Amino acid sequence: MAIDIVTTKNGPYLVTGDLTALELRDGNGNLIDVAGKSRVFLCRCGASVNKPFCDGQHSKIGFEAAEAAVGVTG
Ligand code: FES
Repeated sequence: MAIDIVTTKNGPYLVTGDLTALELRDGNGNLIDVAGKSRVFLCRCGASVNKPFCDGQHSKIGFEAAEAAVGVTG
């Protein structure tokens, strides 16, 4: 099963699928445990105090994101 990453409207990245195959790491390369989770929400606004996970702060700061994908060139 693939892992899907979807941008939510003015919110986090929603990650779903076979998360047993996901290797989520912090900036130092340390693995972040997502065992037992069927989905995770990753902060996209930068305001979460529980990074890399979303804690809902995006709503409080009025985060607005581009929703349309930008084409890849090159
Ligand atoms: S996207 Fe939710 S706190 Fe950043």
